[in-house]
Amino acid sequence: MIMVDNTLDPFGNSVITDYEKIIQDMHLKKIDESILRRIKNPNIFLRRGIDFAHIDFDKFLDAVKRKEKVAIMTGIKPTNEFHLGSKITAEEIIYFQKEFGTKVFYAIADLEGMVDNGLPLDKQAEIAVDNVADLLALGLNPKNAYIYRQSQEKHVMNLGYLFSRKITNNHMENLYGKRPFGLYFAAFTQSGDILFPETKEGGSHKTVLVPVGLDQAPHIFLSRDIVDRFPEFNFTRPASIFHKFFRALNGETKMSKRNPDSMITLNDKPEDVKRKVSKALTGGQKTVEEQRKFGANPEQSVVFELYKYHFVEDDKKVEKVYNLYKSGKLLDGEMKNEITEIIIKFLEKHQKKKKKLLSKAEKIVLGK
Ligand code: TRP
Repeated sequence: MIMVDNTLDPFGNSVITDYEKIIQDMHLKKIDESILRRIKNPNIFLRRGIDFAHIDFDKFLDAVKRKEKVAIMTGIKPTNEFHLGSKITAEEIIYFQKEFGTKVFYAIADLEGMVDNGLPLDKQAEIAVDNVADLLALGLNPKNAYIYRQSQEKHVMNLGYLFSRKITNNHMENLYGKRPFGLYFAAFTQSGDILFPETKEGGSHKTVLVPVGLDQAPHIFLSRDIVDRFPEFNFTRPASIFHKFFRALNGETKMSKRNPDSMITLNDKPEDVKRKVSKALTGGQKTVEEQRKFGANPEQSVVFELYKYHFVEDDKKVEKVYNLYKSGKLLDGEMKNEITEIIIKFLEKHQKKKKKLLSKAEKIVLGK
């Protein structure tokens, strides 16, 4: 595998090879025992170190303990069907909604999709219907959620506009580098998304937790800076919990939306899954003999990550696969066959559920 330095880009591709270093460089906190102890039913991301860093998650947990009114908020650009990366973010908000009984705010980031990807809003609305059907099928309870398109939520847009008032060009350049103004617009809008739940119109939530991939960290920093600059609003700085990226199936970077075979989507058919998994990066040796003798490298294997990040709930099973693979008893072909079957079953069930939820999703997104 090619080793590259850590690169983080909230509007592009990110590659992280050294998570420890990035925690230090960005002054994040680790998700460690002291945090995990406080959570009754940690999900697989928390249990398996996939949620690896946070900002003020401990303070958020304090607020939950004090029974304050708190919110979970995240967003995704509706520029593509959901893949295994978006699935992580979706499952995070669904988990927190259940675990803490918290209201979820979900931004369909169509203004960002417009300025970043150049996709028209009506096209994005169509994709958003499909995305929201995925969210519902994965278990999001729409009764305790506010799902909106950025382009339709005046309060969010107005907040973003207002926030830009006290942030200089230097400040933006420090956080994001020199960018087209459109991306700065998107960043302000995202701060609007993140702080909206704390406003009266958003329900006067005391604090907000934002589960996201680490590439979104600059947006969290901007939102926190904005809180400091508008003391008159009495906002609390938003908290965030960061998950590791699910790599592209070929192992290269964060799952890229540009190379279709580099990701499994939630709309994939059995033959897609078979083809994609068969080409995925393994951690195996060149020959079966060598693998039996020397064992394989689970850390390198994206196939193993399919077990660990997504499709096997039972920790013991994941551990067993890890050990068998590492010791050379389990071969790549066997693993690929097994996980392919598991994924196909999961997607068949998911797609059946989703089909029934499409009209509900349409109502939520298009209001009809
Ligand atoms: N920037 C996010 C993306 O690239 C989408 C997004 C918009 C978002 N608003 C948000 C994420 C608020 C977290 C919180 O997909």
